[in-house]
Amino acid sequence: MKSKLLLTLILIYVSICNYAQPSFASSFLADRHQSRNVSCQQCHGQENSTAEKNLGMNCQKCHGSYQMMVDKTQKKFTEVNPHDQHDGDLSCVVCHKGHKKGVNYCEECHGTFVFEVP
Ligand code: HEC
Ligand code: HEC
Ligand code: HEC
Ligand code: HEC
Repeated sequence: MKSKLLLTLILIYVSICNYAQPSFASSFLADRHQSRNVSCQQCHGQENSTAEKNLGMNCQKCHGSYQMMVDKTQKKFTEVNPHDQHDGDLSCVVCHKGHKKGVNYCEECHGTFVFEVP
């Protein structure tokens, strides 16, 4: 209960900061989405969830499935497409971080797969 209240307060605080500084360095995924009129709730859901699974499902509402991402980015990757993964229901946010630099999750096991995650 307490942590939920704290999270709500953080969300409100971050919203106010963003509102007060619209020109704040917009280098992260969430900032770039906001400049395209995607709200906090469209990624986090009405319940303001930060759970990987929920976030991933919300990404897919706009971007579609892994297969659709593979088809879309096919031309960019000659060897391995990062969206062509073998973990089944892997959440999108394992790689795509909202408010910080993206992470190349595949690299944990495949040291030779080099991806720059937006
Ligand atoms: C309400 C719809 C919506 C939701 C939800 C959404 N996106 Fe997007 N996203 C867009 C639009 C619109 C663009 C810009 C057009 C494009 O590149 O498809 C975009 C672009 C992107 C891009 C490429 C451009 C960039 O700035 O890096 C990535 C990567 C991306 N989204 C990932 C995600 C991830 C991961 C999530 C979930 C955490 C997510 N999106 C949730 C609508 C959405
Ligand atoms: C293994 C890490 C990884 C995962 C997991 C992942 N992505 Fe990506 N994604 C990438 C990388 C790397 C790129 C950059 C591709 C490029 O260079 O164009 C990318 C690019 C994108 C783009 C921009 C594509 C474009 O048009 O250039 C979108 C949109 C996107 N991802 C959405 C998703 C969604 C939705 C999911 C979950 C279904 C997801 N990603 C899961 C690594 C990942
Ligand atoms: C593009 C989708 C997207 C948008 C838009 C977005 N977020 Fe996020 N947010 C994420 C992702 C992805 C994470 C990290 C999840 C992870 O690392 O497991 C996250 C994490 C968070 C966290 C947890 C702390 C952290 O940094 O990991 C807070 C708090 C948060 N977001 C608040 C907000 C607020 C407030 C807004 C609107 C001003 C917002 N987010 C807009 C995708 C988004
Ligand atoms: C937890 C460790 C682990 C992670 C993380 C992982 N893989 Fe794998 N992957 C494996 C193992 C084990 C094999 C089977 C070994 C083999 O056949 O060489 C494999 C095989 C593969 C193969 C076929 C064999 C090859 O090397 O060409 C591809 C393609 C692949 N993985 C792509 C990915 C992608 C893309 C990601 C990130 C989304 C990823 N993997 C993340 C462990 C992992």
